[in-house]
Amino acid sequence: MSGITATGQKRLVLISGRAHPALAQQIADELGSDLVPTDARTFANGEIYARFDESVRGSDAFVIQSHTSPINEWLMEQLIMVDALKRASAKRITVVAPFYPYARQDKKGRGREPISARLVADLFKVAGADRIMSVDLHAAQIQGFFDGPVDHLFAMPVLLEHMRNELDPTTLTVVSPDMGRVRVADVWSDRLGVPLAIIHKRRDPLVPNQVSVHEIVGEVSGRVCLLVDDLIDTGRTIVKAAEALKAAGAIGVVVAATHAVFSDPAVELLQSDAIDSVVVTDTLPLPEHKRFEKLTILPIAPLLARAIHQVFTEGSVTSMFDGAA
Ligand code: R5P
Repeated sequence: MSGITATGQKRLVLISGRAHPALAQQIADELGSDLVPTDARTFANGEIYARFDESVRGSDAFVIQSHTSPINEWLMEQLIMVDALKRASAKRITVVAPFYPYARQDKKGRGREPISARLVADLFKVAGADRIMSVDLHAAQIQGFFDGPVDHLFAMPVLLEHMRNELDPTTLTVVSPDMGRVRVADVWSDRLGVPLAIIHKRRDPLVPNQVSVHEIVGEVSGRVCLLVDDLIDTGRTIVKAAEALKAAGAIGVVVAATHAVFSDPAVELLQSDAIDSVVVTDTLPLPEHKRFEKLTILPIAPLLARAIHQVFTEGSVTSMFDGAA
């Protein structure tokens, strides 16, 4: 029987939102690929428009966006790009959101609150996303909010390698800055073969971004403390923790965090004498005014590129992290 034949060749398509084009370009470079030229603009009334300048029909498309401020703009732009891909007959669409937006609103802490992280997953689904890729979700259960595959990547191997080269394990203690990060900090302490301490942090549910330290569980006196967190927003969690550790006799405080949100007054607070150095990745853009002497920025593009390659070639993402989480 005669008929139409197709080449059967899969085609990788990389698309970037406007929030952090440098990261998308680095991912493309790592993959030896190009970003699809895209016309993305914002109209005078704030509405966003996006159109791809070449065909994406039948492609395996990855839409890369960093959810930095203004976060709602960049979320909407990514949704619009996913919608455009769906309507242009992309075969499979993956949302690459290295920093998952609204991840901290993952449950109802009090009555009449939203679960915005779930809403975001629903929005991606309705727009046409088949899968999501993200790094260090604030809570792993966010994976279950999306009805489809979620590739949850970990920045730990990137940060860990740096710390191994910089810190002496004989005097080191890993510290979780709050109860929510204990599991991750525990993996860090296992991987480094050093003790773990935990800070009991308190927040006032009626005052956003205010933090107080309740107590420290574990021995920190005479130790260099490695504080590990998923994100630094205003910097209050980390600085309060560092101050408490120093007051308890720590001889050094080093901070490792995946997502450098750095809302005001983070840059000012993080230069506190209580902190010796801060190491982050560039899942979010870090313009000059958010950089300071004690800050080290590690590139996340190689990790994302490897994961995209694994997804595209139907390989294994899990094997990238064997034993790491
Ligand atoms: C809390 O659960 C998170 O892991 C971060 O520690 C927190 O959200 C950071 O916020 P901030 O820097 O404003 O204290």
